Amino acid sequence: MTAKVIPVADHRYLNAVPPIPPTLETASGLVTDTLARPLRDLRISVTDRCNFRCVYCMPKETFDKDYAFLPQTSLLSFEEITRFAKLFVAHGVEKIRLTGGEPLLRKHIEKLIGMLSGLKTPGGRTLDLTLTTNGSLLARKAQALKDAGLKRVTVSLDSLDDAIFKRMNDVDFPVAEVLHGIEVAHKVGLGPVKINMVVKGGMNDREIVPMARHFKGSPAILRFIEYMDVGASNGWKMDEVIPSSEVVRRIHAEMPLEEIAPNYPGETAGRWRYADGGGEVGMISSVTQAFCRDCTRMRLSTEGKLYTCLFAAGGHDVRALMREGRTDEEISTAIAHLWRARGDRYSELRTVDTGGLAQAVKKVEMSYIGG
Ligand code: GTP
Ligand code: 5AD
Ligand code: SF4
Ligand code: SF4
Repeated sequence: MTAKVIPVADHRYLNAVPPIPPTLETASGLVTDTLARPLRDLRISVTDRCNFRCVYCMPKETFDKDYAFLPQTSLLSFEEITRFAKLFVAHGVEKIRLTGGEPLLRKHIEKLIGMLSGLKTPGGRTLDLTLTTNGSLLARKAQALKDAGLKRVTVSLDSLDDAIFKRMNDVDFPVAEVLHGIEVAHKVGLGPVKINMVVKGGMNDREIVPMARHFKGSPAILRFIEYMDVGASNGWKMDEVIPSSEVVRRIHAEMPLEEIAPNYPGETAGRWRYADGGGEVGMISSVTQAFCRDCTRMRLSTEGKLYTCLFAAGGHDVRALMREGRTDEEISTAIAHLWRARGDRYSELRTVDTGGLAQAVKKVEMSYIGG
């Protein structure tokens, strides 16, 4: 027998504590990176655990019973998360998305939502506060999330066919429960609910048209996502990517579509609407049409590391700054410097060098950093 190789290794621990710059500054809300991109979105991973084992994200071969998930003491507390969030809002962040793993597995998550929902932008507006979930616990938790101040949710759903869905989540979870969760979320006012479908060639691509048909005319907005080479464990291959152009072609053949303008600059999804007025669908084409040019996203991992790109090999340990007693001004200045130094545009580079680059660098897992 050959020894078991665990490809997601120690990059989690290679991360440096960012230096505190000698001149402290007050956040202006206008910080930009080397490509002139402002800082507008913060995605916070609240747990690295998940009750699903989606084949493209947490394949069972790696995320098995021996996998070392983070210990409780490593996790940022709700107070720490809220303190970071405040500093980011002062730097211009307007949208906060909670992710995981599966964020609804984090105990008392509604308490954190309550703490974050009180934050205001420098202009006095409330945040766009949202959460990405696999929907398994949504029916049970939707009302409490809404009451705590969550504005909307995005639900991952890869198929309506129970057998295919179970093959993808790999834990035998029935699709009916997720559909019920979506309905409850809509009813309690967490809409517009967005549905994210990762399309993996040969796995669920025959579900493209049935999914489109199912959500056409419903209040939910379905978005098709090109399968990406995130992490190091999903064995990504370019030939399993179904380009968005092909997704559009297949839907359009049955239900004519026309392209429409984005809601805001830097939106991840290209928007298409049904010619007959049946609503819209989105195409997230990070493989065939990278959107790095407008990427305004910073990611905060479960244990308090900042990632300037989804594909970064390492993060910046800002939890250490907080736990060694640094002031808000010191941490805020360090964050501004990290953003100013940022030049990431992984997806654009990968598009130029299809696949090659993807294999060459060791990347962080999506379940750790958040979608
Ligand atoms: P809305 O606020 O609802 O527009 O959401 P969003 O599209 O900003 O975020 P969401 O979490 O729904 O993103 C959907 C999917 O797009 C993710 O699961 C990823 O597959 C992909 N994605 C999101 N952000 C990035 C990013 O910064 N880089 C890349 N390459 N892909 C991303
Ligand atoms: N490619 C594209 N999206 C992915 N996600 C996870 N892994 C991948 C991948 N390999 C995204 C999906 C899912 C969210 C939690 O993370 O959108 O809905
Ligand atoms: Fe869990 Fe979402 Fe990853 Fe699936 S895609 S394993 S539901 S974190
Ligand atoms: Fe942003 Fe990196 Fe994704 Fe490009 S690849 S959109 S820079 S997170």
